[in-house]
Amino acid sequence: MVGSRRIAKALETLALLALTAGISQAQGGAVRPCDPATPLGPSHDLYCIELVPAPGVAGVSGRVELAIPPGPFTVAVTADGHSRFIPVVFLTGLPATGRGGGTYVAWAATPQMDSLIKLGEVKNGRVELRAIELDRFNFLISSERSARVREPHGRMILRGQSPSTRPFPPDLLEFSVGGMGTGGEAGHHEHESSGWPMPPVPPGLTMLPAEMALRPEVAPYLPGSDSAVPVARPREVLRVANGDTIQLAAGLVRRTINGQTYTMYGYNEQYPGPLIEAARGSEIVVRFKNQLPDSSSIHWHGIRLDNPFDGVAAVAADHDFTYRVRFPDAGVYWYHPHVREDIQQELGLYGNLLVRAEYGPANREEVLMLDDLLVGESGLIPFGKDSPTHALMGRFGNLFLVNGEPGYRLAVRRGEVVRFFLTNASSTRTLNVSFPGAHMKVVATDAGPFEHEAWVESVVIAPAERYVVHVRFDRPGPVPLVNQVRGLDHLFGRFFPLVDTLGVVSVSSDPVSGDLRTSFATLRRDTATTRALEPYRRFLDKAPDQTLVLTLQTHGLPFVTERLMQLDSIYFAPVEWGGTMPMMNWASTGRQVRWVLKDPATGRENMDIAWHFRRGDPVKLRFVNERRSFHGMQHPIHLHGQRFLVLSVNGVPNEDLAWKDTVLVPAGAVVDILLDAANPGEWMLHCHIAEHLSTGMMMHFTVD
Ligand code: C2O
Ligand code: CU
Repeated sequence: MVGSRRIAKALETLALLALTAGISQAQGGAVRPCDPATPLGPSHDLYCIELVPAPGVAGVSGRVELAIPPGPFTVAVTADGHSRFIPVVFLTGLPATGRGGGTYVAWAATPQMDSLIKLGEVKNGRVELRAIELDRFNFLISSERSARVREPHGRMILRGQSPSTRPFPPDLLEFSVGGMGTGGEAGHHEHESSGWPMPPVPPGLTMLPAEMALRPEVAPYLPGSDSAVPVARPREVLRVANGDTIQLAAGLVRRTINGQTYTMYGYNEQYPGPLIEAARGSEIVVRFKNQLPDSSSIHWHGIRLDNPFDGVAAVAADHDFTYRVRFPDAGVYWYHPHVREDIQQELGLYGNLLVRAEYGPANREEVLMLDDLLVGESGLIPFGKDSPTHALMGRFGNLFLVNGEPGYRLAVRRGEVVRFFLTNASSTRTLNVSFPGAHMKVVATDAGPFEHEAWVESVVIAPAERYVVHVRFDRPGPVPLVNQVRGLDHLFGRFFPLVDTLGVVSVSSDPVSGDLRTSFATLRRDTATTRALEPYRRFLDKAPDQTLVLTLQTHGLPFVTERLMQLDSIYFAPVEWGGTMPMMNWASTGRQVRWVLKDPATGRENMDIAWHFRRGDPVKLRFVNERRSFHGMQHPIHLHGQRFLVLSVNGVPNEDLAWKDTVLVPAGAVVDILLDAANPGEWMLHCHIAEHLSTGMMMHFTVD
């Protein structure tokens, strides 16, 4: 109970500060520039800035909508992880500039005013400006003599602040919570009696003692170690032909990672599971043996197979099941259990399944499964036995694995073009990976190629998504594979860089034989994909057939969690990249948190929703990720047994279509997809964050 009265007091101060901030922001009952046209639109408090007239300026008003620029991903970020938005300004009442000419110019500046960017000329009505890539910024409009000015000289007319400036500045908050450092010994005693070891806390975060004392209210679970458990070996490649039968056995394995030995799970005693390579149009039989202590299954993620073999039905411990898997589409697929993914997938049950399409030329191929494991001082951090821990944000790991191992290595020759097949097998972490200094283009995704290739500085890949990229290494020396994102200390609204190196590509000075310089330099159009999409184009503009709201319910969360999450000043970025509320997140379980898919047309939720679609009729679905819920967060939404096109994000149309089965819906965002409802059966739709799925975020739909 050390210091708990002080905490309560500090929290009160915080709440009071939040309250006054809230009042000053939301005076009056009139319609405000950022008020949403519809409650089912993009979140106005995440993607809109209200412009306030400068003192002495009257009759002028406006807003800035922060549009997510179109691209292969549903969020836009720089290679180092800064969000990129296109400001779209809407202004009314700007006075005419008089006889001497003159104009109005928009600017973005960091809150400390140490960096100033000229965004362009504005006028009454709608103007789209150049992209902003700042964590937090002020938006200013000044009256200028000429549009060519490089700094604001004239009078300030309107100003506003990015939503990310909402949290209190560190000094103010630090002052109000004075002396609240990281937790003392109080937490330590408790942990010994609860059976939970302390999870690692990322460096550089400010934590309240009340947070440090939190523990999950479930019993811990880890697979028992036993000397009979076999040592796992790296995956093998299974090239299967039409009609082949293969075996996949799930069981306990021993794995040594960074010198530490852990009991984990594996398919065929391998990590990851075998890489299955099949030809488009073929069909195989898979005999699954469940040798785990619990029920399990194999779900063939993204594959449009026959409904009874989808792998949603659990196979009891010590039982077998035979799956028939057919491959109608080229794509990068993967397989994993559909029972307690938060435990089973995290412990190593996943493998890739490759059905090659016709890609542009490359010198070699690498198939990489990306993952993060949560490891503490005395081993793996246990799982919740009857209900998942980390129910709020999912389990962020602290040890990055590529194909089950840390420190991925690849040696290439100078000028080599490598085709990487990337799969994100982590429980919750959305990655922003790149090879700094090497050129990269994105070629294909989940279930096929993009209509046209695109240069990218990084790949944003959410759990369960896949991307195919071509990378050319034209400079000798080491090139790291990095995940670079912006962490956010929610309490203080402080952004900081999070950089993790997943591996290193060594580029030798010997040139590659068969240089692909010319073919790599041109962005290829995939005419086959474009032609195959023709029958779908007339459905792209239709109204949504169904809408789904993504939200959550909580009950009985610890006091400190409730209070902090409900501060008016709290800010959730479009993507929660780094698990920067580690203790509150860890201690939240499925007993307190229920993630919800809600059909606003019927009020039904999760498994009570029963959508029916007619086979062959493309369906437009709209996902609305409610920011105003207790904790807004991105959700990678996956539909079983079908494929879809991502049509728009916050109303901005996608200009480069490709078939997908998983789409990242950023916090507060609205994403439209066109579902090719072509495969009959009753199928699942769910969030692929393992802890969200395990705490209810799933539903069924039927294709008749
Ligand atoms: Cu990869 Cu239902 O999941
Ligand atoms: Cu989710």
